[in-house]
Amino acid sequence: MCGIIGFTGNVDAKDILIDGLTSLEYRGYDSAGISYFTKNGIQTVKTVGKVSILKDKVNSEHSADATKCGIGHTRWATHGGVNKTNAHPHRFGRVTLVHNGIIENYTELKEEFAKEGKTPVSDTDSEIAAMVIDSCYKTNPISAIKKAVKKLVGAYALCIMFDEHPGKIYAIRKGSPLVATSTKNGSVIASDMVAIIKYSKDYFVLPEHHIATITAKSIKINDLDSNEVEPDMLHVNWDMTAAQKDGYEYFMLKEIHEQPQALTNTILPRIKDGLVDFSADNVPDSLFDGINAITIAACGTAMHAGLIGKSLLEKYVRIPVTVEIASEFRYKDPIVDEKTLVIIVSQSGETADTREAINIAHKKGAKTLAIVNVKGSSIARESDYVLYTHAGPEIAVASTKAYIVQMAVMYLLTFKLAVLKNTLPTNNVRKLVSTLLTIPDYVDNILSSDKVIEKISKRLVNAESLFFIGRGLDYSLSMEGSLKLKEISYIHSEAYAAGELKHGTISLITDNVPVIAIATQKDVFSKTLANIEEVRTRGAFVIMVTTSDAAVNVSLCDHILSLPEIDDAFTPFGAAVMLQFLAYYTSYAKGLNVDQPRNLAKSVTVE
Ligand code: G6P
Repeated sequence: MCGIIGFTGNVDAKDILIDGLTSLEYRGYDSAGISYFTKNGIQTVKTVGKVSILKDKVNSEHSADATKCGIGHTRWATHGGVNKTNAHPHRFGRVTLVHNGIIENYTELKEEFAKEGKTPVSDTDSEIAAMVIDSCYKTNPISAIKKAVKKLVGAYALCIMFDEHPGKIYAIRKGSPLVATSTKNGSVIASDMVAIIKYSKDYFVLPEHHIATITAKSIKINDLDSNEVEPDMLHVNWDMTAAQKDGYEYFMLKEIHEQPQALTNTILPRIKDGLVDFSADNVPDSLFDGINAITIAACGTAMHAGLIGKSLLEKYVRIPVTVEIASEFRYKDPIVDEKTLVIIVSQSGETADTREAINIAHKKGAKTLAIVNVKGSSIARESDYVLYTHAGPEIAVASTKAYIVQMAVMYLLTFKLAVLKNTLPTNNVRKLVSTLLTIPDYVDNILSSDKVIEKISKRLVNAESLFFIGRGLDYSLSMEGSLKLKEISYIHSEAYAAGELKHGTISLITDNVPVIAIATQKDVFSKTLANIEEVRTRGAFVIMVTTSDAAVNVSLCDHILSLPEIDDAFTPFGAAVMLQFLAYYTSYAKGLNVDQPRNLAKSVTVE
């Protein structure tokens, strides 16, 4: 949520800033701006809309400006509407900054400034942060930042430039992420690695409540007591091509196609002698000793992966599992104790509500296990244990490959626990594990169904509303399919447990209302078929996702999407891909920006 970049070095900074913002655009695309030192002081260029508009403006109106140091921002609006004045960077007095997060006490601070006759020009909380820092600043930026953060309540990642300190960027963060690295051409800081990977695969996460002094040659980190701190260096094992479209029109399509590899990377290293082994992740078997309940806390798509986990764990491990929307969990005094394992699922590892769930769990004495994609992210660092998903960077706002590998980890965990808790004979677990190992190929196979789905999705383009139905695992899939479709195609969509339709929702089913029915589970197949009959009788246009061996009366549906035969427990991997394609092609056929749906952001670092 909001992308930040800062660069200072011995080469032109403007291109690096624009380039960085282009990579970070998925974090917000309401407006964009850069500020940089020139020989005549700090120059700022801002525009409403995409980074490409900013780029054109910089190239046409500011191409002659020479600079080697600057900051940039791409905004997801929280406080203050989408307009140029509210775009970052913000400047007050001798301070220019970019901000990601929310300054919660900005109204009170604004009132205090009003008494001193100081008025901001924008409606943003971020400008108030600039005012606070400016009011604390005499000549020393570090002491100004130290004083200022005592007054700021909320979350922030700030990159700050001071008029009298050309060539230097100062940064501090609380809550919102910042990563940085130094290279031979200069130092770079950003909201995440996709903006940095071009320059280095090695980086560090700026520790919270620490101030970074960034110069062309080095980055110095000090805690708030002025002690110098050596940051922990991290390394990513993906490269620039992972953060580029690589010939695909949209990142989402590329990421759908990357799923077989992501699955291999996530599953294979954790299989030893035919069983699941987490020792390389430093997750000891003892973590699961004495655990009598599991709570999974997450948001959005990650929460839907949790629902798949619930079905699997309850079926194979016979342990009660509660799946909580993290923003609900954090305010409800949840029933969690030292015998509960709290599993936190997050692609970014920075989602504010999900992150807070860790705190709540720890306060209640529970152990936490995070399933996270971004190395070194806040959730990864704050949880007791981490199982990384190895999806590589996910750029499209709509999550695909991150979801499928979160699911894969749910299967791994289930099979691990089934052995530890002795709820399944080891031979049966071995069989399940060997099927899991075939999943990358299984998914690869399904990728070729995209042309058929592209055709079918044309039929959805004009729908006003549509429904996803399923039972059990298929119901969890329905929820994800529905979310995916509505977030990128802007068509109203709801997911229903197939058997629940007749308790109200069926009144919305009339002629040609699309119903996507997922029926892959043999034990409830005939029941779901009956539900399909019910909607069909009322005129629904039915697309059915089922398995190739299922006996379906073709007159029951308008289209059948068949998954290759596989043990029922694993059909979610195939159905997920089909539903991703359905969402993608519907959005695409509507001519929408698939990767950057309106109003959304990838990494939600505010409550
Ligand atoms: C946002 C994204 C979703 C994502 C959710 C949770 O809403 O648009 O795609 O599922 O946040 O994000 P996380 O990074 O915690 O998985």
